[in-house]
Amino acid sequence: MAKLPWGTRQNLTDDEFYNRTRELVNIKNLLYSTSQSNPPEILFSGIRGVGKTVFLNKIKRDLDKEGYLVVLIDFSIAECYQRNNLSLNGLLKHYYNELIKECHKKGLNTITKEISKFFKTKNFKLKDITIVKDIPIPIFAGEEDINKLNDFILELPQQIYENNQDKLKGVIVMLDEFQIIKELGEYLDSFLWMLRGHIQNHNNTAYIITGSMSLHDPLLQRIAGNDGVFGGRMLTQQLTPFDKDTVKNYLKEKMPTLYFNEKSFERFYNCTNGSPYYVNTLANYLPENIELTDKIVIDTFDENLDQLLKKLLITWEKLSNREKDIFIELMDKKLKRKDLAEKMNVQSGSLSKPLNKLLNLSLIKVNNGSYEINELLLKRWLKNEFKEKGYYPYRFD
Ligand SMILES: Nc1ncnc2c1ncn2[C@@H]1O[C@H](COP(=O)(O)OP(=O)(O)O)[C@@H](O)[C@H]1O
Ligand SMILES: [Mg+2]
Repeated sequence: MAKLPWGTRQNLTDDEFYNRTRELVNIKNLLYSTSQSNPPEILFSGIRGVGKTVFLNKIKRDLDKEGYLVVLIDFSIAECYQRNNLSLNGLLKHYYNELIKECHKKGLNTITKEISKFFKTKNFKLKDITIVKDIPIPIFAGEEDINKLNDFILELPQQIYENNQDKLKGVIVMLDEFQIIKELGEYLDSFLWMLRGHIQNHNNTAYIITGSMSLHDPLLQRIAGNDGVFGGRMLTQQLTPFDKDTVKNYLKEKMPTLYFNEKSFERFYNCTNGSPYYVNTLANYLPENIELTDKIVIDTFDENLDQLLKKLLITWEKLSNREKDIFIELMDKKLKRKDLAEKMNVQSGSLSKPLNKLLNLSLIKVNNGSYEINELLLKRWLKNEFKEKGYYPYRFD
């Protein structure tokens, strides 16, 4: 039974990885200039499930073999974020750990030397370096100076290059799930400026910032817009869902046991919107070796919607009641904040925090002051649940 990779996979084999030829060539060509001391800064965006992480892992594998140190840092698995306690220092600690891990994997074991050198040249008083789980941690002579530590961490990729020029063509740092930094609140700007301050002086380190952001996302503007933190410097690239022909050819090649007719294929495409995540998941649930009708496709889709939306439902459950109320209120029609407040019988001002949270998660979007649903599949799931159970599920236990 030929099964497609499930949607939770972050790393596909070359055989499983489909298409994206043009995008691969484009981004690799940009990255190659790193070896000529002219590294790019790239903002790589695309909706949830479109294949960004899988794509970055593919680039990582390829460029790793070609002599680059490639570090993929997933912000969403930082301990501080997982524990609901996102902080700048916590994020940088994660950044540091991932960097060191990758150096070890690549056999660059001179890290401790690099650390000493860095602190000597910057005139920091370093008392000692301890090793915790293979990771060297600098101990300061005086009170631990967090800012110095942060500077040090952000300088490290370029430092690693400079100490290993004979072995490396360049360093590539990929920051994945970058959109979670929205939760830094008032520290967001300082983080972006700090990042920029360092990376703009790195002549042999390329940076790719990526995350599930739509083109309308204000964070995107804030980073790469004309008056954004990185100004015009940052190159933007977008990964889009598979188009109809791509999906058709993909399924024909990788799962020839699915027999669509024209109508059922149309339905399949509409359900999945060409997002590889949904394409793979829905295709895996469809019955094989029979002619698929429109009804089979839509029924299978609805029956497995909770599997398809697994990640999203975790996000849903974590929302506060107020946030859930707002989402449900917006399912029927888009509303201005004032009208939403009226419908919910609350002060308009009390809605700004929950609305921002929903916007940050890309569950809703705002257009000319009107708020509307962005995650249509979540809406569909909620409506189905309501039809079946008579209430909207606020919790799953
Ligand atoms: N090029 C591809 N070929 C085949 N399947 C893919 C491809 N890109 C993504 N997928 C499928 O989509 C899923 C989600 O991809 P992922 O990279 O995690 O999305 P994102 O990071 O954009 O949210 C993967 O687990 C895989 O099943
Ligand atoms: Mg991802």
